[in-house]
Amino acid sequence: MFGYNDEIKEEIRSANDIVDVISSYVPLKRRGRIFFGLCPFHSEKSPSFSVKADEQFFYCFGCHAGGDVFTFISKIENLSFKESVEFLAERANIKLPTLNNSEDPQAKLKDKMFAIHADATIFYHERLYKPLAKIAQDYVKKRKLDNKTLKAFKIGYSGEKNELYKFLKAKGYSDKEIESTMLCYKSENSGEYIDKFRKRLMFPIMNISGKVMAFGGRRLEDNDKIAKYLNSNESLIFQKKNNLFALNLAKKSDSRTFILVEGYMDVISLHQRGINNAIASLGTALTEEQGKLIRRYSDKVVLSYDSDSAGQAAILRGLEILDKSGMEGRVLQMEGAKDPDEYIIKYGSGRFELLVQNAISAIEFKTKMLRKNYNLDVANDKIKFLKEVSKMIANVDSKIEREIYIDKVSSANGISKEAIYAEINKLISKKDDTQKLLSQKVKVVENTEENSDISRAEIEREKMILYFAIKKYDEIGKKIVSKVSLDDFKVEKYKNIYNKILETANNGNNIYNSLTNIENAEFQGVISEIMFSEYEIDSVEKFSEDIINNYEKNKLTFRKTEILNQLGNPNLSKEDSAKLEEELNNIVLKLAKMR
Ligand code: UTP
Ligand code: MN
Repeated sequence: MFGYNDEIKEEIRSANDIVDVISSYVPLKRRGRIFFGLCPFHSEKSPSFSVKADEQFFYCFGCHAGGDVFTFISKIENLSFKESVEFLAERANIKLPTLNNSEDPQAKLKDKMFAIHADATIFYHERLYKPLAKIAQDYVKKRKLDNKTLKAFKIGYSGEKNELYKFLKAKGYSDKEIESTMLCYKSENSGEYIDKFRKRLMFPIMNISGKVMAFGGRRLEDNDKIAKYLNSNESLIFQKKNNLFALNLAKKSDSRTFILVEGYMDVISLHQRGINNAIASLGTALTEEQGKLIRRYSDKVVLSYDSDSAGQAAILRGLEILDKSGMEGRVLQMEGAKDPDEYIIKYGSGRFELLVQNAISAIEFKTKMLRKNYNLDVANDKIKFLKEVSKMIANVDSKIEREIYIDKVSSANGISKEAIYAEINKLISKKDDTQKLLSQKVKVVENTEENSDISRAEIEREKMILYFAIKKYDEIGKKIVSKVSLDDFKVEKYKNIYNKILETANNGNNIYNSLTNIENAEFQGVISEIMFSEYEIDSVEKFSEDIINNYEKNKLTFRKTEILNQLGNPNLSKEDSAKLEEELNNIVLKLAKMR
């Protein structure tokens, strides 16, 4: 609707080869004209993610994600369609026309909010270097932040009272625009505007493409009465649960392992000392959305949270989320410092890397937690502990992994391996039985699907029609489109696409371009599914005739049954019945000719 025109989108599309683009996220292997790799959108062990160079489409046979290069970028970078156009324009060095967003007030406001944040970042950052920021400069020195780090993270110092407000007004922003960012607010007493962040060390929070969307501000006074950190309010451009601090930097690191810490200062301190794969969730426990986001760039996450009880609970929750998102979670064990920042300053990055390497698995961590609740000198406690631990180990799929855990638990707690094996085997045989039952259920479900109203052959036929209408419109598609009506389609998702094809054909537009320009992920998924089917035909003539005949035959047969039913009505008038008889004769004749 609101966005760049089709010509510029085409230019950008052809300048960004989909195989090149996807290769920088997913290792691809060529097989014939199709490239395969592991799907970045769901966790899998064998590759069902495929990219076709010829049609410039990707499709995952596992999770049915699919689309063109814009869809891919918007999914993997978590961008809107418009932002993905901008992203790829930049990649290909194509200058975009300045968009007139006046039609879309929301997009216009978002752009303004980002612009205000960009200006505020510069304001705070430059202010940090001014003589009146001595207190902040001293603080930064005390925390051992070097200048390169201050620049990389665009760290700043906020002013007094309403300095930012005045600066933004001078830049020409309206009160309404400034208020929308909540960086300044109107005081109820004086009616004057006041800055939200005053005399704080400012940490810009950037989105995945590096645009500032919020701030965290640390107090500089040693005064427990004021909050240590003040964070931006959630807004149109900032939702905590969807973002992580420094993910825009960590995603550029070579490592597929991330280190998840609690604080801004921990991340910054680790990055400064070469550990550039550290990120932080924004003052909350890890959310499912954040899990999915991290999954795109990493396979393994090492949690390095505080060891207090709140930290322990956050670790458990974090491990659960990581597991759900298909990542391996590990837990870093730290002694001699309260957080990663303090640790790495005290012991250096080499020792910290060692802690990362020795981080324990989820099972080991849970066992350690569990262990605290029992006194293993008491027989009863020992049995309970054994049962609980065995339950956890029985849930591990790999036999080798299970053996490693059994070894560890046995030696760490003085429980014989045999006892643990016996307990686990009991649980596993139970699990196998439920597994069998479950797979039987799945079969039943599959069978009912086979018998549904729409047959396999019909589904294939509809896919073929779409395939040729999109790919070979001039040779075959045109002819089919003139004969097959929308009502002939039974599968809803295919019908939607056919509807678009008919519309486009009526307007004389290019079918392929029009369809791929529709900004709807689900729709693009179905299009890719169709583009990834391979239909070879010997004779164009015969094929289109077959398809058309088939639909005509269906229609005639349907009408025939209708007439036969009507003729059975005793109240039918003589004329009506004569008319119907004649129509019936014609239909029977036509059907006979078709066979
Ligand atoms: P920490 O208290 O561990 O902060 O809180 P830190 O980053 O290590 O900072 P220093 O070393 O004390 O200067 C961890 C995170 O929790 C959030 C912030 O995101 C912080 O980085 N937090 C903490 C708040 O949002 N508000 C607070 O008042 C405190
Ligand atoms: Mn700290």
